[in-house]
Amino acid sequence: MPDDIFAELHDNQTPPLYRWFNGHAWVESKNGHYKDVVSPIDHTVLGKFPVVTTAEIDDAIARAHGAQRLWARVEITKRGKVLRLAADWIREHEPLLTTLLIKEIGKPADEAKDEIVRSADMLDYYTHEALHVGGEQLPSDAFPGYDQSKISIIERVPQGVVLAISPFNYPVNLSVSKLAPALMMGNAVIFKPPTNGALSALYLTQIFRKAGVPDDLLVTVTGGGEDIGDYLVGHPGINMITFTGSSQVGKSAAKIAGMIPLLFECGGNNAALVINGCDIETTALEIVKGAYSFAGQRCTAIKYVLGLDSDLDKVLPRVVALTQEKIKMGDPRDPGTKSVGPLITESAAKEVEARIVAAQQAGAKIVLGGKRQGNYIEPTILDHVTMDMEIVRIETFGPVVSFVRVKSIEEAIDLINRSTYGLQAAIYTCDEGLGIKLAGELDVGTVWINNKPQRGPDHFPFLGTKGSGVGVQGIKYSLEAMTRLKPIIINKPG
Ligand code: G3H
Repeated sequence: MPDDIFAELHDNQTPPLYRWFNGHAWVESKNGHYKDVVSPIDHTVLGKFPVVTTAEIDDAIARAHGAQRLWARVEITKRGKVLRLAADWIREHEPLLTTLLIKEIGKPADEAKDEIVRSADMLDYYTHEALHVGGEQLPSDAFPGYDQSKISIIERVPQGVVLAISPFNYPVNLSVSKLAPALMMGNAVIFKPPTNGALSALYLTQIFRKAGVPDDLLVTVTGGGEDIGDYLVGHPGINMITFTGSSQVGKSAAKIAGMIPLLFECGGNNAALVINGCDIETTALEIVKGAYSFAGQRCTAIKYVLGLDSDLDKVLPRVVALTQEKIKMGDPRDPGTKSVGPLITESAAKEVEARIVAAQQAGAKIVLGGKRQGNYIEPTILDHVTMDMEIVRIETFGPVVSFVRVKSIEEAIDLINRSTYGLQAAIYTCDEGLGIKLAGELDVGTVWINNKPQRGPDHFPFLGTKGSGVGVQGIKYSLEAMTRLKPIIINKPG
């Protein structure tokens, strides 16, 4: 596919004015209302995208319902063909998409490339797994008033028109993880990308379009969350919402959406519990990787490490040494930069800085880093942090890891369980049996043993408890979530 298929996305001004995709055409702003995408690297305006109007949203959603009814009748193998072609074109355009992603969200080059490749692989996997998602059949049984004369034929039918809202930290991958299962299972999608990440999402939309997604089935609406978020979420034409973003926005969206199916991945504030730190090297390395990938702007990042003095006194110095050795802060375009580029905005960096300062004033000790330069935060390690400090009480989206000293493992488990978040946790121990036992006591979606928390592999179930989300993602689980069961009951002949 030639690169000039992307030419219709924008005009030739500097910065370019982008168009939004109404399901069948690339459309300019009706009222001249545009929003800037500012690169976190050098603050240049990479492009401007239209803020769509509510009338345009109404029209697109109405058309999406018609398109969905036709798409649901298309054989699943044919739907898969379209999505596999999209996967191939993502691979073909990987250099272009990677470069755009680096500029748009400041993701370091290696991690940006991984995001693009992972998205193509994920699409392929979805198309295969979808072939195995089906309904079932149940005979009736002897509940009062029933005999065995009935059969329930239970089909899986599409939810209808799915609203997909993706976040800035994975604007391609966490869009594909929504679009692919929705489309594979016969739904239409109203896709609302984040502000930083909107341009990547528009490129992705064109790839889906050119791969053969029919008219009006996939609509990409642009605009800030503050402009169109609530309107979309509360729209009566939306049958389901799949969302990744903060717990705060997720809770507000859930209230507005009311009684429709929700698949939400929200904030995480993930703990690492170190017990009898025997393999110090592995433990320290996993903590470093877990804390600093994409400058800690991942919902699965490790935010705090809990343990007894005897364990933390061994692990902390290795975490410091490995951070100094392996994590290099710098321009994300530079291949020498390892994990820590700029935060998404200067105000986000200022917020992280304020929490570091507040923690220090409340008695925490800065062991490494702690300074802000523009929208960069140095890789930071804090010790003697307590759970009442904001730096660990609420999700801190930055490259900071805090050490929290406890008097017993029971105290550590209690602190983790008291959190308002429940995405993931990690336990580092040589006694895997003990690890499994303690994992059972943690009120979180997933527990990793001797590994960093993370979403993948992408076919594993991924979920959060409490403020960290609702519903289960992961390839098979997301496909199922994009359907509802429809029992049709017949009387057994004879
Ligand atoms: O930020 C939320 C993402 O789902 C985290 O994904 O663990 O692959 O970085 P990741």
